[in-house]
Amino acid sequence: MTPATPLSQTAHPQTAAPQPPSLLATLPGHHYTSPEIFAREQEKIFESLWFCAVRSADLARPGAFRTVQVGRENVLVTRNRAGELRAFLNVCRHRGARLCTEESGEVRRTLRCPYHAWSYDLDGALVAAPNLVKMPDVDRSAYGLRPVALREWLGYAWVCLADEPPSFEDSVVGAAVERLGEVAAIERYRTGELALGKRVSYDVKANWKLIVENFMECYHCATIHPELTYVLPEFARGYAAQYYVGHGAAFSEGAQGFTVDGSEGFGRLPGLAAEQDRRYYAVTVKPQVFVNLVPDHVIVHRMFPMSHDRTVVECDWLYTPEVLASGADISRSVELFHRVNVQDFAACERTQPAMDSRAYRTGGVLVPSEHHIGDFHSWVTERLGG
Ligand code: FES
Ligand code: FE
Repeated sequence: MTPATPLSQTAHPQTAAPQPPSLLATLPGHHYTSPEIFAREQEKIFESLWFCAVRSADLARPGAFRTVQVGRENVLVTRNRAGELRAFLNVCRHRGARLCTEESGEVRRTLRCPYHAWSYDLDGALVAAPNLVKMPDVDRSAYGLRPVALREWLGYAWVCLADEPPSFEDSVVGAAVERLGEVAAIERYRTGELALGKRVSYDVKANWKLIVENFMECYHCATIHPELTYVLPEFARGYAAQYYVGHGAAFSEGAQGFTVDGSEGFGRLPGLAAEQDRRYYAVTVKPQVFVNLVPDHVIVHRMFPMSHDRTVVECDWLYTPEVLASGADISRSVELFHRVNVQDFAACERTQPAMDSRAYRTGGVLVPSEHHIGDFHSWVTERLGG
């Protein structure tokens, strides 16, 4: 049987038609399905870089705690009696029981292990252990909880499991501010002073990289985001990259606010410049945070990669305390990005099973408007050691 002639030669047998630039390849499919690669990502990315763990205001009082999965470790974040946030590995130093088994809660003075009742104060020091008077050889000072580096920014506690954490200023703050440019400097939104209006947790059956890649391009926006493209018409043209809207995507003339139906939102956040009005900015803070900035609120996504094919995404909608105290109806405001999230995560879940297909064994391709996803793939590959 004669092999089929390539279509381009059949259509233009004599002419040397200009060829489009060759398309970049994506990562091969097994990068999204391999538990071994995921384990390396946990070690080289999530356990090595700063990881946005908890909204600081969620731990309002001393003794409040929250546990989060960071790479292969479970991390306990709490507030000590002096009002400062502290982070520890959530592992009892006696025989290794998980100290706090709840996702969140509050203790009065000490964190008490449910196994043999060793107790730690809110700075991690071992302060009580039953019968230790009869076992004087146990040095309490040597068995405090293992501390984890913690910094606060944008109203969130960021933790780092590395023995020598990278510079927070360079790798987190500097990277985000640089990408957003001078006009949209993220600090002007004063995200740390905003209050939580709504939080939705999405359990997405997809590899974390599919979620990042989806957030990084808007080629899909015209297809799956009718509400978003109504408010931000340039997204329908597919050129904007949601991860890096440094120039600010302008609202459509018909949209009064960043709401599901384009209806009016709330007053401009204090501190914003006039040119930041009626515009949407966004940035990805690698490896797991997306920040969306609009004139009257801020939306922050934190990803928690749980396995090679499952990622929990916690999304916070933040408003001024005054807007929330006024009892204003934020539902149309929240509904816009909630729909975007549902639409995006459905797309990611539709993609995940195909990563195992022989059709994707060598990966897919990136069209020109997705070229920066190639940079993300290079970054991941380099982190994993090539
Ligand atoms: Fe925690 Fe024994 S394992 S007290
Ligand atoms: Fe999207």
